[in-house]
Amino acid sequence: MHYFRDTWIEVNLDDISENYLKIQHHQRDGTKVMAIVKADGYGHGAYQVANHLIESGVDYLGVALLDEAIALRQSGIEVPILVLGWVAPEHAPIASKNGISLTIFQNEWLQQVALQENPLNLHVKFDTGMGRLGINDENEAKLIINKIKENPSLKLEGAFSHFATADELDSELVQLQKNRFSNYLSLINAEGLSVEMVHFGNSAGAIRFPDDEQHYVRVGISLYGLSPSEEMKSVIPFSLKQAFSLHSKLTHVKQISPGDTISYGATYQADETEWVGTVPIGYADGWIRRYAEKGHILVQGHRCKIVGRICMDQLIVKLPFQVDVGTQVTLVGKQADDEITIDEIAQQNDTINYEVPCLISSRVPRVYKKNNQIIETVNQILNN
Ligand SMILES: Cc1ncc(COP(=O)(O)O)c(C=O)c1O
Repeated sequence: MHYFRDTWIEVNLDDISENYLKIQHHQRDGTKVMAIVKADGYGHGAYQVANHLIESGVDYLGVALLDEAIALRQSGIEVPILVLGWVAPEHAPIASKNGISLTIFQNEWLQQVALQENPLNLHVKFDTGMGRLGINDENEAKLIINKIKENPSLKLEGAFSHFATADELDSELVQLQKNRFSNYLSLINAEGLSVEMVHFGNSAGAIRFPDDEQHYVRVGISLYGLSPSEEMKSVIPFSLKQAFSLHSKLTHVKQISPGDTISYGATYQADETEWVGTVPIGYADGWIRRYAEKGHILVQGHRCKIVGRICMDQLIVKLPFQVDVGTQVTLVGKQADDEITIDEIAQQNDTINYEVPCLISSRVPRVYKKNNQIIETVNQILNN
């Protein structure tokens, strides 16, 4: 036992590898899946997800931060890793030392990095319509490509771009982005450089445009079993399995009388005699206050409404009848014939599914299952 609190996440690694194999199988020959494990694997645990997916065939990982890449190296992950975000040029030698590839899109950045002598793999990023990171000017693209060409310690390993609307079924921007990207690729060829790794598709792109010519697709959300958007659900030609579930145990059960109030602000008042239970999870765990408005929790297969305000470490749920202290409750996942999905919580709270698992803080232990057996438990509070 490596944790002492009664709230935990279960991550079913078999679901993640099944999702991966389906997405990989859906691609044209020659296109591989780069597993995106930034933000601690979308809250699922970057190392565990990466390690399991490498066993299943993944050979390239993507993260947002250099720190995330180094953490994976420190855990023993040896496959190539690309940092998708901006890394300060003075940290390029650290990336080089750890065999971590960096994203490049600024001439000034390159000028500062050019002095370093260690080999460094670079992926040039083009902004074709996302408006976030990336070169959006052909002259700057030429300048950067030529500077890389002239410097023997720098290798142009990859070229990429990122879709802004691939999860929207009738977006015209998608084709525009593809056209702009192929112009940039032609420009690289015209400058006499070849690129081993062209990558564009995110989950939505990988699912909707499997015939696109690219060496990798950068897949995040769908590896975890979630659809990139509600409208995309109708066009995903295979089933995805949500790998994440969240559970707790009641720490207190009591009967309250008409007029009794619950939690800060006394916003909930009982109309009748009723049973309530206290659940040890709160906004500091990422179960944010807003979830109280429409939120339910499964208790013995019954959907039970969250009542009153969610506190930092606890919340209160209205029970259909008396149950024992210690009864397991499910905030995300299945109980009996019912299921609370991540999508349901996202929809209720006007957000996207990505946000829900990412928000669950490191204070909640992660329990990893393979073949229905617990294979590892991670509790970041106790560093084990
Ligand atoms: C640059 C980049 N590539 C790939 C991904 C993966 O996207 P998705 O989770 O939609 O598959 C992301 C995620 O936001 C990203 O920022």
